[in-house]
Amino acid sequence: MTLRISNLGKHYGDAPVFENVTLTVEPGEFVAIVGESGVGKSTLLNCMAGLDSWDQGTVMHDGIDIGALDGEACALWRRRHVGFVFQAFHVLPHLDVAQNVALPLMLLGQQKDSEGRIVHMLEAVGLPGMGTRLPQTLSGGQLQRVAIARALVHRPALLLADEPTGNLDPTTAAKVMELLIGQTREHGASLVLVTHSESAAAQADRLLHLRADGIAA
Ligand SMILES: Nc1ncnc2c1ncn2[C@@H]1O[C@H](COP(=O)(O)OP(=O)(O)O)[C@@H](O)[C@H]1O
Ligand SMILES: [Mg+2]
Repeated sequence: MTLRISNLGKHYGDAPVFENVTLTVEPGEFVAIVGESGVGKSTLLNCMAGLDSWDQGTVMHDGIDIGALDGEACALWRRRHVGFVFQAFHVLPHLDVAQNVALPLMLLGQQKDSEGRIVHMLEAVGLPGMGTRLPQTLSGGQLQRVAIARALVHRPALLLADEPTGNLDPTTAAKVMELLIGQTREHGASLVLVTHSESAAAQADRLLHLRADGIAA
């Protein structure tokens, strides 16, 4: 399932956020988006997930024109094929850790026999036995790992992560990168990751630099 972005452009009023972004990410590939604060990295990632709109160009995934899907069809595509790690976690406060991680499986109607998978995911992100904890009892780094377990639990073909290691200590950050890259290499996911971390970017197959003038290189 290849992600193909062609000549993507977006602006707010007269101000371009980005222009002519063209990018292909094959299964098993890892592309890092880098650039200063405010250049549009999060906006571009949101466009890739169909969570934001654009003004020119196309986002295609596995031959599907994401911009042509209506809201419901796009939500369904996202549920099936996308794992998204938000910068601000978006862990749901009223659900415990295991319920948060189980959410994508529940939305896909795959909650049956999901318990073992959730236990495995919590172990993989270094939160073994913490399934019954509520988010308010976790640190920022732990919440980020819950968000990552949730993004990976349904083995999505497209993995989009917005500064997923920004709140983590170096050891935990390295572990999180290992998980995201592992999913990419072993299950043939396409990984697009926004990062300020040089060590994270150094592991990417390719870099996309976003610049303040909207030009990508
Ligand atoms: N709703 C909006 N209206 C106008 N400008 C916006 C809006 N949302 C974001 N922006 C602007 O778009 C630019 C890109 O933002 P963002 O994608 O968050 O950048 P980054 O993730 O690289 O820090 C910023 O200059 C921001 O101020
Ligand atoms: Mg951002």
